[in-house]
Amino acid sequence: MILEGKIGRIIVEENAIQHLKEEVKRLNPSKVCVVTDKNVGKIWFENIFKEIGLKEVEKFEIDAGEKGKSLNTASRLWKKLIEGKYTRKSLIIALGGGVVGDVTGFVASTFMRGTYFAQIPTTLLAQVDSSIGGKNGINFHGKNMIGTFYQPSFTIVDTKFIETLPENEFLNGIAEIIKYGIIFDRKFFYFIKENIETLKKKESDILQKIVEKCVEMKVEIVVKDEREEGLRRILNFGHTFGHAIEKLSNYRIKHGFAVSIGMVMACKVAEKVTGFKQVNDVKELLEKTGLPTSTKIHIDKIVEEMVRDKKAWYGKIVLILPQEIGKVTIQEVEKDEVLNTLKDGA
Ligand SMILES: NC(=O)c1ccc[n+]([C@@H]2O[C@H](COP(=O)([O-])OP(=O)(O)OC[C@H]3O[C@@H](n4cnc5c(N)ncnc54)[C@H](O)[C@@H]3O)[C@@H](O)[C@H]2O)c1
Repeated sequence: MILEGKIGRIIVEENAIQHLKEEVKRLNPSKVCVVTDKNVGKIWFENIFKEIGLKEVEKFEIDAGEKGKSLNTASRLWKKLIEGKYTRKSLIIALGGGVVGDVTGFVASTFMRGTYFAQIPTTLLAQVDSSIGGKNGINFHGKNMIGTFYQPSFTIVDTKFIETLPENEFLNGIAEIIKYGIIFDRKFFYFIKENIETLKKKESDILQKIVEKCVEMKVEIVVKDEREEGLRRILNFGHTFGHAIEKLSNYRIKHGFAVSIGMVMACKVAEKVTGFKQVNDVKELLEKTGLPTSTKIHIDKIVEEMVRDKKAWYGKIVLILPQEIGKVTIQEVEKDEVLNTLKDGA
């Protein structure tokens, strides 16, 4: 499947990486730099270097994990580009998960006011979510506080990378996949439910089908609301609770795991506020997947953290709440209502 438009060209198909050479050629860049992290670089850089087929491709490695998404990384990369005489006609390729994609996109958008940029996402989360839509950024006095919207020239989504992904990172991505079903597509939700065991085995046909469908959904949402002024906010389903849980656990609970707990919490609030009836369907699927659906962190602490967060004001919390599977609404909910609903545990 090839999607084109203001989101750049997105190629998502089996062995999509074979298109890399022609995509690079089409841009005819003055120089090429592949930004990757230490884990991904070790496994995949040589392969990508061969696929590009140019004699000179530079590699820039960053620390793996959230700490790589820093001003220091951005600054080192800007310096490398300046010293290496990169220009606006050079190409910077992000090869990695959301961390690499976010910091590389940010640098590509700001270096000389924007140079060519491409994404090769290697985590499931990056393939179905972060590499699509043009949001980027670094952590600076808070997560994702500095960033821009900048669309890549091309994005190559190849599920082959998932083979080497650690199990936890795989589950992390499945949480976001389940999220798409709940917010956007009932049929897709029940399709995942039927096929969860096959998906967990990373069976290639099913993985391919699911990744393609998620990319399609994300593109549809982003094209309608690139700047996250309306519809795109539904992608934050489960994330308001999730971010608070992640933070309170000192990031020991991983993003997707926190979002999983957050989705169950949002569903329970929805049960009261919108009359949502399928909390158990959601819980069951998350449990079958191997994702957590509750936490020992006290709900008072979680809500307190949410109120501090940028998405809450005047004691009201803005939540994405399902009305039914596949359909959500954005609503302000009183802090006390959230507390009362969830005080007996999520
Ligand atoms: N821009 C957006 O729209 C958007 C959306 C969602 C999340 N994000 C951001 O994405 C980041 C999280 O991304 P992530 O979950 O991909 O994590 P990540 O980039 O930290 O990658 C997770 C781990 O997996 C390793 N890894 C990646 N691909 C691998 C592979 N194929 N084989 C073996 N190891 C591999 C990495 O080295 C890392 O240790 C967060 O910073 C988040 O803010 C951005």
